[in-house]
Amino acid sequence: MSTTILGYKISAPIMIGPTAMHQLAHPEGEVATARAAAACNTIMILSNMSTCTVEEVASSCNAVRFFQLFVLKRRDISAQIVHRVEKNGYKAIVLTVDTPRLGRREADIKNRMVAPQLRNFEGLLSTEVDTDKGSNLEALVKEIYDTSLSWEDIGWLKSITNLPILIKGVLTHENARKAVEVGVAGIVVSNHGARQLDYTPATISVLEEVVHAVGGRVPVLFDGGVRRGTDVFKALALGAQAVLVGRPVVYGLAANGERGVRRVIEMLKDEFELTMALSGCPSVKDITRSHVTTEFDKPRIIHQMITSFTSQHNDVSERKNRQLLEVVVLWFQSSTSVANANLSVDLSLKFKAKSCPQHQLLLQQFLNLRSRLLRGAAEPLTPQNKPKIS
Ligand SMILES: Cc1cc2nc3c(=O)[nH]c(=O)nc-3n(C[C@H](O)[C@H](O)[C@H](O)COP(=O)(O)O)c2cc1C
Repeated sequence: MSTTILGYKISAPIMIGPTAMHQLAHPEGEVATARAAAACNTIMILSNMSTCTVEEVASSCNAVRFFQLFVLKRRDISAQIVHRVEKNGYKAIVLTVDTPRLGRREADIKNRMVAPQLRNFEGLLSTEVDTDKGSNLEALVKEIYDTSLSWEDIGWLKSITNLPILIKGVLTHENARKAVEVGVAGIVVSNHGARQLDYTPATISVLEEVVHAVGGRVPVLFDGGVRRGTDVFKALALGAQAVLVGRPVVYGLAANGERGVRRVIEMLKDEFELTMALSGCPSVKDITRSHVTTEFDKPRIIHQMITSFTSQHNDVSERKNRQLLEVVVLWFQSSTSVANANLSVDLSLKFKAKSCPQHQLLLQQFLNLRSRLLRGAAEPLTPQNKPKIS
């Protein structure tokens, strides 16, 4: 079950993701979480907005630690924090890019959320903000985070640290490619637990797109809704190298401190190990794409089924032909990839040979769909998915 992330061996591909302000959950805060990470032999990513300092967490245990960074308007202060992180043996910086401002968290506004002391900023930055109504955390973020963060800032970050930089908050193949281009050491597919922007896609639905774009050049990590060992397995089958766990860790911490966090990680590990065993995977390397099917596989599967059906039955009746075409139409109408549109064109050509009266119309529809997708450049063209007819 073990794996290696940026050269660090961990007992399972399950890491502790960055979540802010652990002392709201338990008085020992991030120190308890880090000790649990050490006990479970996994990596903890400490949040920039932690309630224990970078130094306290570092001296509390020997867990491999990464540090999650939000870039501040006061770049000098971000640079000081990064230097402290380096000095205290953290192994990587995880730059979160989906939070230029805080999303609208209505519960925080209603409850007039007040952030506890964010001790990494002590002596560097006042975290007192004037809010007589609403969420003080939202006001604080608005005041201190740098909303101008852009791709060029990876260069800035590289200029102040030698630590590998991972980027957290990638959801598209365009951004994944760009991230690799600017030299990140890893990508975290994340939508911040859907806590930033409503209607953001589910991370599991975009994971594969990112994995393809990255093409194995850097590791792809995944977070969002990992609650069972089967979720870990699914993410790995779709190409993630490991998952990060956010809320379950905080729940474990609130329930029983360090032991609670250990319990959460152990439960996930046990379930994951069982899933591997029941799927015939002795090691994580044996988990493959064919262990799961997704919405995107349906057109391919239907294509295979119909191709094999039509090749076996030369005298398909017109009624049967129509039924088959209806199935194809159903699956392909919602097609969002060039590869799938190509499959549909390919299928309609097969039907042409059967002289089905509907085929011309359908073929035209599929061609239109394909050209729409090509215009939108939903996927780069490769020799495999290049249109076969024009
Ligand atoms: C209470 C809470 C605090 C969070 N704080 C941070 C943070 O400080 N930095 C960050 O990059 N992500 C933060 N996140 C997002 C998580 O890292 C993660 O992306 C998200 O929670 C999805 O994982 P989950 O579904 O396992 O919780 C936070 C999430 C929660 C729930």
